[in-house]
Amino acid sequence: MERPSDAMRALYEDRAQQQYAEPVPLPDPRIDRKFARIQALVRGQLPCEAFLDAGCGDGRYLAGLAGELPPRRAGCDISERILETARQRVDADLRQANLEALPFADGEFDTVMSCLGVMFAPHHQASAAELIRVCRPGGTIGLLSWTPEGFIGQMFATMKPYAAASPPGAQPPLLWGREDHVRELLGSGATIVTAQRQAVRVSYPCPEDFRDSFKARYGPTIAAYQGLADDPERTAALDRDLVDLARSHDQGTTSTALDWEYLLLTARRNS
Ligand SMILES: C[S@@+](CC[C@H](N)C(=O)[O-])C[C@H]1O[C@@H](n2cnc3c(N)ncnc32)[C@H](O)[C@@H]1O
Repeated sequence: MERPSDAMRALYEDRAQQQYAEPVPLPDPRIDRKFARIQALVRGQLPCEAFLDAGCGDGRYLAGLAGELPPRRAGCDISERILETARQRVDADLRQANLEALPFADGEFDTVMSCLGVMFAPHHQASAAELIRVCRPGGTIGLLSWTPEGFIGQMFATMKPYAAASPPGAQPPLLWGREDHVRELLGSGATIVTAQRQAVRVSYPCPEDFRDSFKARYGPTIAAYQGLADDPERTAALDRDLVDLARSHDQGTTSTALDWEYLLLTARRNS
């Protein structure tokens, strides 16, 4: 019998296939400030004894921090295809797994991070409970999530009328960008220690270049366009809406400069 997570996995395998059709530079020079900030966040928790990157994607953070991480370092992602890339980059215990049911023991890690990973698991309470479960009492959970108000949040809002409806029961990813939502999810299991909204500025030669880059390389955008493959009018409308969005957020003078806001949060696992 197909379980809901099988369908979720198939979707991400399909996206990963397209997203990683060409090798992705490590780190991507356009997002190296985000990379630097998550590295700083993790460094603040080092040295640690056991480290987990939940929703590790292509392993860029595990690879970037490899020299500083303990020998017990692990990552997991729902997509086996994406993990193939991670395996080429880093020596770590990398497992295909749904964040809502992690294949790790209770309290196995003292530092658990998820950069734009856990926010995409559809059942928030289940995945929050798993992050807490695998973190030892006193250990740290570090999360980076797009905010609903920031540029990427607004891009998801722009794509929503064009994208396939979420499966029943799935919660919106951008809620993870709200501190009050995360506090509620963590409940008595963990206490928020720091929560900051920051932005990384990403520049493109023009708004169309932003759109085309996302259309070709970003999983959720690829999926939205795939769903419109037989509808040239709606495809053109989404093309226009994404360009208009970039124009309306442009902070640049000589290029299209977009501020991608995220919530950077750390929490301490309670006893
Ligand atoms: C935006 S990418 C971020 C990857 C990486 N952390 C980074 O910052 O480059 C989101 C990742 O979460 C993974 N993912 C989405 N839903 C998941 C789930 N339910 N369980 C595990 N991984 C999931 C995707 O396959 C993808 O690699």
